[in-house]
Amino acid sequence: MALFGRFVFMARIAVTDGMAKDAVALLEQSGHEVILGTISSTDLAAGALGEFDAIIVRSATKLPADVISASGDRLAVIGRAGVGVDNIDLASAAEAGIPVVNAPRASTQSVVELTIGHLLSSLRHIARADRGMRSGKWEKNAMKGTELSGKNLGLIGFGRIAQGVGTVAQALGMTVHTYDPYLPPKVAKARNTILHKKVETLFSNCTHISIHCNLNDETHHLVNAKRLSLMPGRSNDGIDCGNHIVNCARGGIIDEDALFQAMEDGTVASAALDVFEIEPVDPSSPLLQHKHFHGTPHIGAATMEAQARVGLDIARAIMTVLGGGTCETTVNAHLLT
Ligand code: MLT
Repeated sequence: MALFGRFVFMARIAVTDGMAKDAVALLEQSGHEVILGTISSTDLAAGALGEFDAIIVRSATKLPADVISASGDRLAVIGRAGVGVDNIDLASAAEAGIPVVNAPRASTQSVVELTIGHLLSSLRHIARADRGMRSGKWEKNAMKGTELSGKNLGLIGFGRIAQGVGTVAQALGMTVHTYDPYLPPKVAKARNTILHKKVETLFSNCTHISIHCNLNDETHHLVNAKRLSLMPGRSNDGIDCGNHIVNCARGGIIDEDALFQAMEDGTVASAALDVFEIEPVDPSSPLLQHKHFHGTPHIGAATMEAQARVGLDIARAIMTVLGGGTCETTVNAHLLT
């Protein structure tokens, strides 16, 4: 078990889900060997990580307990080039003495901008209007939307990304609410945001809800039929704007079947998802066929700027651990002894 990194002079580092060129160059210039390319889940479970001192993944590569226990003694650090670590078994890594480091700040602005883009697209039917035009329709009368201004936006979770979304939403004239059981009330107050003690009152006050929490046992299917049914449909400015859901955080926080039903019966007027319970999402999923749904394939952090920052942040974090140091973004530090 190790709180500090294991000193590795010239490490062999697997990068399985891609990484920005500058970040690869940084690792190589520091004397490390970088092997780029996917490793199948079968090979991972058979111990493929035994040939590496470090691995850097995004969300596609899954590192459950059996993969970590099959990796032997060589693996000294796991890097997550991004924020969410739900694809890595943190406790098993800690048990094997392996710190898991991530890059929590690098993609904030990109995810904020995608979230706002999804909100605007939902309210002004941008994706639907585009689909119509491509099929030869000029549906001007069917595309009447509503403004974001004057509406209540509920943010589930109030970390960096939610706070960024809140700032932009306020600039657009929205009133921002949040539910975050771990948030000191003074943080919400400083950001002029209404903090709810119960998630139910967030739903009953907000016509627009955006998700910004982690996926864990507590948040799995947190957005369900009962809670969706609490949403008011009419905003404070007296507009029947309907209810709108955006998720650029993690799949699995929304019960997708319940969301589809709520769209079918009109409880929810639109849903925009960047993340899905199973990715890649099944293209025949009824949700994807719904005319008031629009989606993106988990691209929250997929900008040139975010990927450049994520790559460099994670490369530096990996080098800190391989240099025998501790990294401030070690997400399983509390489990390592
Ligand atoms: C993240 O957790 O950083 C995002 O979901 C981005 C990604 O994994 O591609």
